[in-house]
Amino acid sequence: MIASDIRLFDVSARDGLQNEPGAAALSVADKVEFITRLVAAGLTRIEAGSFVKPSAVPAMANSAEVAAALAPMQAAHPEVIFSYLVPNLKGLERARAIGAKEVAVFLAVSEEFSRANINQGVEDAFTAIAPVIAQAVAGGVRVRGYISTVFGYDDMAFSPDAVATRAKQLLGMGCYEVSLGDTTGIGSPGMVGELVRALQDVGIALEHVAMHFHDTFGKAIGNVAASYALGIRSFDAAAGGLGGCPYANSPKGNLRLEDLLAWCSAQGIGCGVTDAAALAKASGFMLGRLGKAA
Ligand code: HMG
Ligand code: MG
Repeated sequence: MIASDIRLFDVSARDGLQNEPGAAALSVADKVEFITRLVAAGLTRIEAGSFVKPSAVPAMANSAEVAAALAPMQAAHPEVIFSYLVPNLKGLERARAIGAKEVAVFLAVSEEFSRANINQGVEDAFTAIAPVIAQAVAGGVRVRGYISTVFGYDDMAFSPDAVATRAKQLLGMGCYEVSLGDTTGIGSPGMVGELVRALQDVGIALEHVAMHFHDTFGKAIGNVAASYALGIRSFDAAAGGLGGCPYANSPKGNLRLEDLLAWCSAQGIGCGVTDAAALAKASGFMLGRLGKAA
């Protein structure tokens, strides 16, 4: 077996499902079956749901029930970390009520995206998230931080220095890792290079950085390759390429995990998937439930 070099973070059950038409109708049992299959494929970092305002993202409204139903599997697989997205202290409270070991906070560098996503501007959002991170960490819950729109958005051009400053801020608040989102899929290998240089210029160790690519224009794997060559080892991906973002203009799928696996296999790099057939079954199961072709 190839040693796992890449640390994979599976986002399919949250970022993947939150924007899939029909996902709000999925039962708790469907979601648990999907996540069980992801665990069977060898995945150990799995975003299992979110504790946001239910009317904002109805597909995640049953996340507490999903978390409760995952308890036996969590007991059987202590190596698996289920992560839950939280926007505020109320979300953190809900995550702690189900015994979450990890939560993820999410911010953006685009004003327009930030306001659409969380009804708050960038500066206010960074200020408001500090106590959420502090309380989580003080309670023994580890925190991942997302920054969306890192390669630019409708209202802003790519600014690697601005992203690096915000990433440093989030890490300084207590996040163990910051995931940098190419929310609309406009990034390129050259931009990845500029971003990585800016991160290093502000003293960020790349072991604390993950990349979150979207495949809108078919550039995700090229961007993974560029990131990997520069020393990034943590990547977000979604089984079956599920998802997008409800507030981005080009809500195309997240980097497809199967594509990442194929790239890794071709390079002789491990990514933690130990059973590709189980992964195919997981994707097939969920795509089938959503009425999409595998
Ligand atoms: P708001 O309406 O401004 O919040 O929403 P509020 O504080 O004014 O509260 C309004 C109501 O919501 C109140 O209820 C609160 O209690 C309730 P009421 O008193 O009216 O009955 N509320 C909550 N209920 C449950 N859980 C909570 C919660 N918070 C407030 N946590 C808010 C602001 C941030 C809450 C809302 O806009 C929201 O939930 N947004 C989340 C949207 C979302 O999940 N977007 C997708 C995630 S980001 C993403 O996908 C990108 C990423 O994947 C990377 C990438 O791909 O780029 C990370
Ligand atoms: Mg995404």
